[in-house]
Order: sequence, then C-alpha cells, then structure tokens
Amino acid sequence: MKKTIFSISLITILIITACNTPQKDGSSDARTEEKIDSVISLMTLEEKIGQLNQLRGVKMIASNVKDTKLDIEQEVRDGRIGSFLNVHGLDHKIRLQKIAVEESRLGIPLVIAMDVIHGYKTIFPVPLAEAASWDTTAIRQSARIAAIEASAAGYHWTFAPMVDIARDPRWGRIMEGAGEDPFLGSCVASSRVKGFQGNNLANNNTIMACAKHFAGYGQVEAGKEYNQTTISKLYMRTVVLPPFKAACEAGVGTYMNAFNDFNGIPCSCSKYLVTDILKKEWGFKGFTVSDWNSIAEIVNWRVAKDRKEAAKLAINAGSDMDMMSMVYIDHLKELVEEGKVSVEQINASVRRILRMKFNLGLFDDPYRYFNKKRRDSLILHPSHRKAARDMACKSMVLLKNDNNLLPLDKNEHNTIAVIGPSAHNRNTLKGNWMGMCDTNDVVTILEGIRNKTGDKTEILYAWGCNEYEQTSDKAFNKAVATAKKADMVILCIGETWWMSGEGSSRADINLGGRQRELAQAINKLNKPLVAVLINGRPIIIPWVNKHIPAILEAWLPGTEGGNAVADVLFGDYNPSGKLPVTFPRHTGQIPVYYSYKESGRPEDEGKYTACYQDISSKPMYSFGYGLSYTTFKYAAINQNKKTISAGDTLKLTVEITNTGTRAGEEVVQLYISDLVADVTPPVKRLKGFKKVSVNRGETAKVCFNITTKQLKYWNKDMEYKADPGRFEAFIGTSSEKGQKVTFTLK
Ligand code: NOJ
Repeated sequence: MKKTIFSISLITILIITACNTPQKDGSSDARTEEKIDSVISLMTLEEKIGQLNQLRGVKMIASNVKDTKLDIEQEVRDGRIGSFLNVHGLDHKIRLQKIAVEESRLGIPLVIAMDVIHGYKTIFPVPLAEAASWDTTAIRQSARIAAIEASAAGYHWTFAPMVDIARDPRWGRIMEGAGEDPFLGSCVASSRVKGFQGNNLANNNTIMACAKHFAGYGQVEAGKEYNQTTISKLYMRTVVLPPFKAACEAGVGTYMNAFNDFNGIPCSCSKYLVTDILKKEWGFKGFTVSDWNSIAEIVNWRVAKDRKEAAKLAINAGSDMDMMSMVYIDHLKELVEEGKVSVEQINASVRRILRMKFNLGLFDDPYRYFNKKRRDSLILHPSHRKAARDMACKSMVLLKNDNNLLPLDKNEHNTIAVIGPSAHNRNTLKGNWMGMCDTNDVVTILEGIRNKTGDKTEILYAWGCNEYEQTSDKAFNKAVATAKKADMVILCIGETWWMSGEGSSRADINLGGRQRELAQAINKLNKPLVAVLINGRPIIIPWVNKHIPAILEAWLPGTEGGNAVADVLFGDYNPSGKLPVTFPRHTGQIPVYYSYKESGRPEDEGKYTACYQDISSKPMYSFGYGLSYTTFKYAAINQNKKTISAGDTLKLTVEITNTGTRAGEEVVQLYISDLVADVTPPVKRLKGFKKVSVNRGETAKVCFNITTKQLKYWNKDMEYKADPGRFEAFIGTSSEKGQKVTFTLK
C-alpha cells in the first residue's frame, strides 16, 4: 500500500515539476502555485505538520530541546520533519535526503540549513567588520563566496543575514550585524541577500537567505542577551524595520522570528509583525522560521500557559516553521481537531515552505547540491582566500595615526615585537559563528607580519596575558622583556572569539584581563608602539586612545586576517574603513549613537542641559569615522537649487582632492536633517554614501541626488511622508566632520 501511494505521488510530483521555472527569490508564479496545490492535495494533516518541523541533524550541547531520544531517520521516513539545521558531512545529508525522497510516503525533499554567517570554510571578517568597508560590492561578493562553499557542502539555506540594528555594544551579537544605522544596514542587508541567493535560487551554487531576527532583537534592554525590549511603533518603523524591508525587496526567501518581545508579545507569536507587516503589507511570499526553541519559550514569557498554547499562538500569528521546540509536531494536530487552529492556517504555512523548496529546485533534483567533486574543488579555493584577505583589508579602520607612524617601512626596523593575546591566536581571528572553519587554515597576525617582512627583520613574539582574566606575572613580564628587545612594538589586544556572538553580552566592555596594564608597561619602554584591536564590538579604550600613537581596528578578520593586518600595517593596503557603529568613551554613555535627538535642552555648557556631570557626552569615535594614510580635501558643496518641489531633484556635488602622498579611498557620506517635523527628528540621518578611489594629487567628483524619497519619515499618524519645510544636507568624511547646506521642500 505504502509503495503504491509513494509511486503515484512521486509520478505526480515528477509531472508537475517537469516544467518548473525556478524563481530567483521568495516570489512565485501561477504554475508553481498549481504544483503546490497538487502536492498539498496529496498530504495528510500529519504530513503537513511535518513540513513545519525543523530539527537538528547533529547533536550539540543544548539543554533546552527535547529531540535527544528521537530516531531522526524514522521521523524523516514518517514525514515528520520538513527541514534540518546543522547536518554536517555530505554523506549524512545525502542519507537523510534519500530517506525523505525515496522512503517517505510523498517523497517531499528536505531543506537543510546552517548558520553560514561570515563564510563557510573560508572565513571572512565578521559582518560588523564587513559593514565598516562600506563597500557593498565586496560585501555581496563575500556572501556569494560563502554561498558557493556552503552549497558545495550540500547546504540549501543559511540563517543570515542578521540585519538587526544595534546601538548597544554590550550586546554580543552586534558583531553579526551591520551596526547602528538603518540606511547603511539596509544597503548591507540587500547586498548580503543578493550575494547568498545569486541570480537564481535554483542554481546549485546559491543558498536561500534568512533575514533575522524579526524584529527588534538588537534593541534588547541593557544589551542583555535574550532580554525584553521597549520599542515604540515609531522606532520600530524608523530604525528597526528598514533593513528587513530592504531584505524583502532584495527577494529574501525566509525570515527568522526574534527571541525578544515587541509591545508585550513575544515576536514568535506576533501577528502584527509576521502577518500584518511582513506578509500582508510587504507581500512577502517566502516562509518564516522561529529561532531555536523560541516558540516553546513563549511559555517562559508567560503569555502561554503551556506548550500547546504556545503552538496555537505562534501558528495563528503566521509563524510557519518551528525550529527545535517540537511544539508544532506535538500539538498542532490536536489543535486542529479541537478547532483552535484551522487547516487553512496550516495549509498557508505548508504552501510557503513548499514554494521555497520548489524555488530551490529541490523538487526537480533533491540531490542537486550534493556533489563531492564540486565540494572538493571549491571549498577554500585560493580565489576565496584572496577575496577574504581583500575584504579584511577593506574592513579595517585606522582610528589614530599620530605623526604618520603608520604605515611601517619593511626595511626600517631590525626587530619588531608582536605582543599580546590576539597576536598569534587562530581561534580569535576567525571570530564567533565561524562556519566549518578549520582553525589550522587561519593566518595569525604574527604569521602575517613574518610573511610580509621575510628574513630582513627579526620578529619576536610574546603572548603576555589573555583578554578576560588575571593571568600570571611570568607571561606578563616575558612580554614586556620581549618588547624591550625590539625597536618597534605591535600590540594586539581586544577580545577573544567567544566574547562576542550569541550568548556573549558583556556588562563591561573595557579592555579585559591585564591588557591595559600590559599596554601601559610596554608604553613605558618608549618604543614606537602600534595597537591592533581585535574585537567583535566597539570596546572602550580611553587609556589606549590617549597614549598609544597609532591604533588600527582590525575586528575579527577571518581566515586571512593576519595577512590583511600586515598588508595594512606595512602600507600595501591604504585603510579605507569607516566605523559602522559609535565607540563610546564610557559604558555609562550607552546607548550612544550619531542619530540622536536634540531634546528640549540640547547639550551646551550649562548644567541643566542634556549632558553628564562627570563625563563628556561625546563618543570616543563617532559613526562614519576612519582615517587613511593619505588626506582628502573637500571643496565647497555645489548645490543646483535651493528649493525643490515633489518630483524635482536637488543635486549636491562635491569635489574631493587627494592631498596626501599616496592613492586612497574615501567614503563620502551624505546626512540629512529635517529642521522641523511633526515627530521629534534625529539631528541627522545617513541618506547616501559613495566610496571613491582617488590617486595622489587627483580630484574626484561625487554627486548626490536628493528627491522627496530621502526626505520621507514616519510621522505622527504613522504615515511615511515628506513634509514641506527646511532641511540641512551635510556631506562629510564622518558623521561629525563635514559641511552643510540648506534647502527647502515646497
Ligand atoms: C539561535 C540564534 O539566535 C539564531 O540566530 C541562529 O540562527 C539559531 N540559533 C540557529 O543556530
């Protein structure tokens, strides 16, 4: 009996997929919908619910899930699993897919996912670092390469990009996003989606992307992981949602529910977010997946009395796939029988999941991603390593360079000491969310510097201390003694890999352990001293900023990180990165970001204004800031008109001359301020940027076109509109330094 049904259904599916036109994204066409109808008509309720269930393919440490005793192969055979995450090894993937396709009653293929966040095997800099490049082409290429490697390893789907705007660097996951600004965040979100998904989702070198965490996870109170949020609808629309919308416009296939609540409702059961905004208002056609166990956690949030009620709330809110909590598979059937969940609701979710399986081409050939030859020839390909090195160079931000201490001359120093916990630690450089990185592939800073200088210079090394606790005097003293022997010191400090990423919130983001003490002891030696910062979030470094003459922010730079650091230190790459997030000078300032509101009492000298009694309100380094080894002079802004009406374009042109001694790149930034609006506007908002490459002595012209598009905002009636009135346009080298012109919208 089973066999007959299987063959009939398989034939049906084969016929209906014969002329499948694969879609490049979450969209669909009438033919695909007909095919989905046919599949759904063959499915039992249990099989439908099975499609909504996602489990892990490898057992990992996680106490909060209940799959440990399951025979997952039998579950697949019984049609009780629609998707897996983390199925490591091609053979394992092939085996599970074979069971799904050849041994389950309907033969519906599995979709297999993994967190491919900044590379699969070739690890790129963490996403926050990539955002610092402001180079959307390179960012797209990085995601493309991650997709090529992950798909060659048999994955169909990544849980990336994380597009959460984050303004609290205590939140460890800030490393996984594009920083604090919705405009930059939207550009990065769109590039990453396009990079992962390529031109056609059905190609075997593309993977489906997942915009996460929907929505507001970056706003967790006090930067504490998994915490509550207090977000107004206005803030949600203005700051949080734009990158999610940009991902939708770029054709993202899936969204992931956030762990936090919004307006008192856990996001996994927020009908307002999932159905009203995402599916209805934006017309999203793909599917949503919960975060790990987040549907069961609705019970912990105390808005459901038990797992069954949590399942009901989530499915009725429109959350399609349950990652790891098994509440759908355990309770939906009963809920349908009791009339608490409709079959139509289940069908709607199944339809979305099947649609994406069709779009991925899995019904045409469920094994299309499983090819050992491709895997072996593509993964860690030299061209991928080269791209990772270029990306790492582009992401680095030169924070300070007194007296042009950098770049270093390869021939000037006989002995260089490379000191510090991040100098020779492969794990640290790869960062958290490291895909399937083999740490042995990572080039450390020490190695990168040795590769660069060859035999001409003696390179000494000492570890000194770690990044987070008190360590022995012996190692500390050895590091100082080693530095003493050198004529130049490169001090590599910051955070180790596990100090940012999931579950890595920190209340104190100053340099940890004995690192500051180490910097102080080495500084006393009076040698030329450069600090290389390795970290996944803004860190607080008042002493380092005051005393160390040159500081390079290198983030968590990935597989080729050490070579890239050496490229920048020795001037083979002229740094061009700009901060995508503000660096506070004190934890007490958090959140501190450039797009704040003036308040009724803007800060000035007076006590009764928006300021602190004990510290400056100014950040250590502002959003958009970053130096170069050359200098750029901005000419006055040329403005084609002073007044525009709807339909007009205001053209702002500025000439930038490279007045220094070498070629360089500059990120020219456009900010707009609404001088009067009907809801309190921020002092300025980023509305455009262009990265230009200018040779020494040459001039580049940058033009920004302003229409009402850039002047719109969410007003008091929650409409997205531009009001007539006066505006300021600010063009500059950072959010702080630039020139302004004014104009009027009639
Ligand atoms: C939890 C994280 O919040 C999410 O971003 C990730 O994709 C899932 N775990 C799966 O690993």
